[in-house]
Amino acid sequence: MCGYAQYARLQSSWITPLSNGLSLKDSMIVGTAGFTAALSIQSLQQAGMNKSNQPTIAVTGATGGVGTMAIALLKAKGYDNIIAITSKDNQSPMLKSLGASDIVSPQDIIKDDNKPLQSQCFDYVIDCVGGALATSLLTQISYGGAMSVCGNASGIALNTNILPFILRGIRLIGIDSVAYPNEKRLRIWYEISNAMEFIRKIPITEVRLETLAHKLDSIQHATNIGRNIVSINNQ
Ligand SMILES: NC(=O)c1ccc[n+]([C@@H]2O[C@H](COP(=O)([O-])OP(=O)(O)OC[C@H]3O[C@@H](n4cnc5c(N)ncnc54)[C@H](OP(=O)(O)O)[C@@H]3O)[C@@H](O)[C@H]2O)c1
Repeated sequence: MCGYAQYARLQSSWITPLSNGLSLKDSMIVGTAGFTAALSIQSLQQAGMNKSNQPTIAVTGATGGVGTMAIALLKAKGYDNIIAITSKDNQSPMLKSLGASDIVSPQDIIKDDNKPLQSQCFDYVIDCVGGALATSLLTQISYGGAMSVCGNASGIALNTNILPFILRGIRLIGIDSVAYPNEKRLRIWYEISNAMEFIRKIPITEVRLETLAHKLDSIQHATNIGRNIVSINNQ
C-alpha cells in the first residue's frame, strides 16, 4: 500500500500536468482506468471506428473501472450503439444511465461449439476481461472491425484461430497505458477533461485507508462497481 500517500517523490518524467480545468480529485476518479479506456477508443478510431456510421461497440467488464469509463467516454463522443457485457444483471440501470444501449451477459457471448467464426454481431470491441470472453468475441466481429485488448480480469488465455483475421480482416490491438509516450499523454487527458460531465455519472466510492483491504478483495472477486478513490485526509 506504499502508493497510498498524500505526497510521493517521483521522477519528473512520470508526471503529466493537470489538463484543462481538471481537479486533482477528477484526475484520480479517471485514473489509469480512464486513461486506458481513452487509449482503447483512440486505437479503435484509428482503425476506422467513426460515430457517423453509429457502429455497434461491445465493452466487456462493463461495470469495472475501464468498462464504465469506456462507456461514458464513448457516449461523450456521440456513439449510441454501445453494448455493455457484464455478469452483474442488476447493474443494467446504472450502465444505461452511462450510455449503454443494451446489456448482454458473458454467457450469451461465449459459445460452446467453438466454431472458428460465428455470426457477425459487433463492429468494434473494447475488451478488458481476456480469456474465453475475448476469445469468443473475436469470432463475432463484423468484417473489417477491430478489438482492443487492455486487460486480463478473467485470465491471460486467448485461444483463437486465424480465420477472423484472414477471412474478415479483423484487427486485434493491444493497449498499454504504462509506457505510453509522455508527449502524447496531454492530448488524451484533454479529451478526457472534455467528457467529465459524462464521467461524473460513474459510481464513485470514497474508500478510507482502514477499509482499503476489504475494497481490494471486492475488486479481486469481481464484485466491484465503477471507480474507487482513496481518501488519505482526516485518517
Ligand atoms: N493495459 C493497461 O495499460 C491497463 C490499464 C488499466 C487496467 N488494465 C487491466 O484492465 C483490466 C480491467 O481493469 P479495471 O480497472 O476495469 O478492473 P475492475 O474495476 O476490477 O473491473 C474488472 C471487471 O471485469 C469483469 N470480470 C469478468 N471476469 C472477472 C474475473 N474473473 N475477475 C475480475 N473481474 C472480472 C467484471 O465486470 P462485470 O462484472 O461487469 O463483468 C469486473 O468488474 C484489469 O485486468 C487491469 O489489470 C490494463
